[in-house]
Amino acid sequence: MLGSIRDTLGRPLRDLRISVTDRCNFRCSYCMPKEVFHKDYPYLPHSALLSFEEITTLAKQFVALGVQKIRLTGGEPLLRKNIETLIEQLAAITTPEGHALDLTLTTNGSLLAKKARPLKDAGLQRVTVSLDGLDDRIFKAMNDVDFPVADVLNGIEAAHSAGLGPIKVNMVVKRGTNEQEILPMARHFRGSGVALRYIEYMDVGATNGWRMDEVLPSHDVLQRLREHLPLIPLPSSQPGETAQRWGYADANGMHDRSAGEIGLISSVTQAFCGDCNRARLSTEGQLYLCLFAGRGHDLRSLVRSGASPEQLQEAIASIWGGRSDRYSALRGSDSIDNIAGPKRVEMSYIGG
Ligand code: GTP
Ligand code: 5AD
Ligand code: SF4
Ligand code: SF4
Repeated sequence: MLGSIRDTLGRPLRDLRISVTDRCNFRCSYCMPKEVFHKDYPYLPHSALLSFEEITTLAKQFVALGVQKIRLTGGEPLLRKNIETLIEQLAAITTPEGHALDLTLTTNGSLLAKKARPLKDAGLQRVTVSLDGLDDRIFKAMNDVDFPVADVLNGIEAAHSAGLGPIKVNMVVKRGTNEQEILPMARHFRGSGVALRYIEYMDVGATNGWRMDEVLPSHDVLQRLREHLPLIPLPSSQPGETAQRWGYADANGMHDRSAGEIGLISSVTQAFCGDCNRARLSTEGQLYLCLFAGRGHDLRSLVRSGASPEQLQEAIASIWGGRSDRYSALRGSDSIDNIAGPKRVEMSYIGG
């Protein structure tokens, strides 16, 4: 066995994000704009998808190489049929030290009210739910399928009751679209046990028409929150973390744990590539080394050709060993086109 591995910048492999479908029942304008992802869009055929057995086989090799956290993504991962079966298989994997994996999933919450209990029973530990506002008019305009806020909140409640925590909520902030929801969202989730994270709108993929003037920098988000809320900085909880954490102060200026926390994910204005330990496995088994990569590395052919666990580990270790990706840190510099190119992978394909 090869054990823990590092890339060319000395970054270990700790976090594996597995996309289980490229489909979604929402059409968020920043991710799957309707004009592009219409009813005739060429989604992947079923035969192209990694089977649960293939995913599990690959996941085991990643864990042998140092992965400690697995996150299922999509599209919308809860649209993949019998996803509980995959979760059961992944939950049975342990690290070389004999620890359970941190097994989680990012969802739009639309099916969570129904699925929270079976997911928990299958061995899922926690969930992250995307929600861009509490105002129905704004949220419906963002998901573009008229989906109501109340149903997502019911999903979060169901996840809480099922013990799928600690729960995180992701809010993508777009200037001029949902910035008025920043404060109401913080007030709503303060003291609820849910960590709310504000995400800078990113230039992922090639279809969302991203413009820098629609990015509201985290610094501004924080400033707006601090005008009304007693926020204090918290230390990071693990290396390679995406969010800067902030807690609420009590009357004595000390951290009030019962109030919970918020996070700021500043991929555009304060890149966090320096300790990025995340690998991404696409629905069809391509290994991507960066959210903004132009191409992946084919693991499906290898696993379908009957490669042994050792051969799979060697292939993954060699790909990771050659990794130098740090797109966000280079964003805006001249060398960027050589790194990503115009054919960047779509968020709905690689799962964010
Ligand atoms: P936790 O371990 O639960 O904190 O999860 P996470 O922050 O890794 O995952 P989540 O899926 O909730 O991602 C939050 C946001 O950060 C999403 O918008 C992701 O697209 C973005 N994100 C996650 N990882 C990366 C990354 O490596 N690079 C960039 N640029 N963005 C990322
Ligand atoms: N910029 C920032 N975050 C995005 N997400 C999807 N597209 C974008 C984008 N262009 C978020 C989703 C989800 C997470 C995985 O990524 O809302 O919460
Ligand atoms: Fe679907 Fe999530 Fe993309 Fe919205 S952000 S379209 S919910 S995959
Ligand atoms: Fe990691 Fe690429 Fe995101 Fe940087 S831009 S943090 S290297 S995934």
